[in-house]
Amino acid sequence: MITINHALRNRTLTITDKEREYYKRQLVYPQSALILKQILNRTICADIMNVIDWLPTGFVDLLIIDPPYNLNKNFNGIRFSKTDDETYLEYLRSWFPKIVTTLKPNGSIYICGDWKSTFCLYQIMKEHTVVRNRITWQREKGRGAKTNWKNATEDIWFGTMCNDYYFDVDAVKQKRKVIAPYRENGQPKDWEETEDGNFRLTCPGNFWDDISIPYWSMPENTNHPTQKPEKLIAKLILASCPKNGIVFDPFLGSGTTSVVAKKLGRQYIGIEKNEEYCFWTEKRLAIAETNKTIQGYSNGVFWERNTSNLQLKEQIKEQKNIATKKRKTSKNIFYNIATKKIV
Ligand SMILES: C[S@@+](CC[C@H](N)C(=O)[O-])C[C@H]1O[C@@H](n2cnc3c(N)ncnc32)[C@H](O)[C@@H]1O
Repeated sequence: MITINHALRNRTLTITDKEREYYKRQLVYPQSALILKQILNRTICADIMNVIDWLPTGFVDLLIIDPPYNLNKNFNGIRFSKTDDETYLEYLRSWFPKIVTTLKPNGSIYICGDWKSTFCLYQIMKEHTVVRNRITWQREKGRGAKTNWKNATEDIWFGTMCNDYYFDVDAVKQKRKVIAPYRENGQPKDWEETEDGNFRLTCPGNFWDDISIPYWSMPENTNHPTQKPEKLIAKLILASCPKNGIVFDPFLGSGTTSVVAKKLGRQYIGIEKNEEYCFWTEKRLAIAETNKTIQGYSNGVFWERNTSNLQLKEQIKEQKNIATKKRKTSKNIFYNIATKKIV
């Protein structure tokens, strides 16, 4: 009985052969140098090493790079093998400097990795960017180890190409429960009193503990082994890419970066060598045409984990407010027409 319920609630992306055939026609399979018009808002199905010299330069606002980590991993039949630090650094050096040339002079860059790759990531960032920060994402999933500490975090290094860069902190504010509600003259100081508790909008720090790994009952979930959460990518895009700006992800995987960029009104380009993952990306992009929801981000703020009921309540309240405003406006128009007075 439980198994049936799980199966029913499993929202992991599925795809048919007919859809594969359809989405294949939307992919870009490069044969020679590429111009921006050909690749904007598209998925390029290719090995980055084969097309790196064919990419235009100086057009990207935000680079999000989530490369294979220095681990043994099977990406749908294409294997990546763990190696020593020096060899992994050489691997990064074989593509990173060229990828950076796609950035505008005031562009920003984020690169992801686990604790083992982080030394190499810092090194490559230091060689080619102004390193601004290291974000640590606390993932709640991961196997326990008998003779070591369970690996429960990942790093995301943030860098820019110069000191004059775009950063919109107001777009990534977090709604958090207030633990010690302080009052001044009897009034809440920088927090809001609601029927569901006391909340404050805070500036996000570089330790992120509010983001879950996608799992089977989430609509964003695919079978990609290292899929990033939409909420995590949304923070990077909202903070570091202006509206209509261009986001580029050269290791696109299941398409998370492009999908989130689309949902947030940014343009995108992604490269992925595994064709099956490219099909999943196209299907997710098609769904994003009508569904712009990002789990954990609503009403312009990021919420803590396990607050979906509160978020829903706020959304209903917001919709009611909009409906009331609309009703009032239409009443005014009616009143004006009836009295033949223009206010
Ligand atoms: C860590 S995963 C990215 C996951 C992605 N952020 C997501 O949310 O699904 C790295 C991806 O890079 C792809 N990849 C590895 N080497 C590549 C190459 N040389 N060219 C293009 N893609 C590559 C792998 O197939 C894999 O899907």
